[in-house]
Amino acid sequence: MNYRFPLIEKLPPYVFATITQYKMEARRRGEDIIDLGMGNPDLPTPEPIVEKMIEAARNPRNHRYSMSRGLPNLRLEIARWYQRRYQVEIDPETEAIATMGAKEGFSHLVMALVEPGMRVIVPDPSYPIHSFAATIAGCELIKLPIDEGPERMMESLRQLDFPKGEQPRLLILSFPHNPTTVCVGKEFFEEAVAIAKERGYLIIHDLAYADLIFDGASAPSILQVPGAKDVAVEMFSMSKSYSMAGWRVGFCAGNPQVIAALTRLKSYLDYGIFQPIQIASIIALRDCDHYVPEIADVYRQRRDLLVKGLASAGWEVPMPHGTMFVWAKLPPSHAHLGSLEFARQLIVGAGVAVSPGNGFGERGEGYVRFALVENEHRIAQAVRGIRTFLRGNARATS
Ligand SMILES: Cc1ncc(COP(=O)(O)O)c(C=O)c1O
Repeated sequence: MNYRFPLIEKLPPYVFATITQYKMEARRRGEDIIDLGMGNPDLPTPEPIVEKMIEAARNPRNHRYSMSRGLPNLRLEIARWYQRRYQVEIDPETEAIATMGAKEGFSHLVMALVEPGMRVIVPDPSYPIHSFAATIAGCELIKLPIDEGPERMMESLRQLDFPKGEQPRLLILSFPHNPTTVCVGKEFFEEAVAIAKERGYLIIHDLAYADLIFDGASAPSILQVPGAKDVAVEMFSMSKSYSMAGWRVGFCAGNPQVIAALTRLKSYLDYGIFQPIQIASIIALRDCDHYVPEIADVYRQRRDLLVKGLASAGWEVPMPHGTMFVWAKLPPSHAHLGSLEFARQLIVGAGVAVSPGNGFGERGEGYVRFALVENEHRIAQAVRGIRTFLRGNARATS
């Protein structure tokens, strides 16, 4: 029997899968591949968080099903975090929910808010689930260009023109932006909120890189805009700020109707995050602020090393001011290869794995994304491999 799964057919192999395959093939040949492909943080989770997890895991009371929407004390800590960092009031009962990472929360949130056939506005390129959650939910994607900066994207948003009754349901935003590293100020969100109110959109803002900002760049919360809670919710991830990627914990806060919708859907789908992880997350949000700049600083140093190293290899790429990525236009000498083939050649010829830009959307073609998830020694090694590769290839093609 040859089964057909129409939904699955709408999902091309995940962006990282093809590259993972090339990487595994090279490793099987015995080659050392420096993996800057997936944004999978390599830094350890701060010790007090790990300690709390171990202590809580020893208590049998924490072995039972937990609360799907998160422990009251975790939601309280989320509210305090918003107050401390952004001076935003969040009611822990009605305006906050814990999620199994931002990715799970985001995808189920989209599912909770739309019906098949509705329109969803998403930047192109984007973190894959930002567009595919809408595809999975049977929605039509309206893409806004983000590769040329926030002003161009906002202009495209202003110009969208749908009749009343056919307006998009959702506007997806995420700054600092993966993969382009674009950062925006509060005024961007002010206009987005005003447009959403006027046209009846809801906004989901994914603030996964809230803390990975450099050189005085800003990463405001959309909820800082007065009245934003009328139309917006925000996702946050513990994965990057607290190096808790494998723990699968994040949260969503904002509009109470939207939070209630996600709470209802999740109450059917899960029994909550393993309670020791929730308890350790309370410690992270309450006591571990001082680790966050240290973590950000590691990424900044790696960024400096990579961007300067690439420049010394003749590959000029802009210095990103946010996220844990470097978004690089293919060097002119190799632009004809396209993103995927260039990424493949980089594995074979330089021993470096990156993510091809076209995996993030059509407008990502012509770019690759480096994730700063190997140490400085390995990044220096990657730069040497790339330098040799670019020179060798320049010779071969000249
Ligand atoms: C924009 C964005 N949101 C969410 C995530 C995933 O977050 P989590 O680990 O909390 O699911 C990532 C990870 O790369 C990301 O880039």
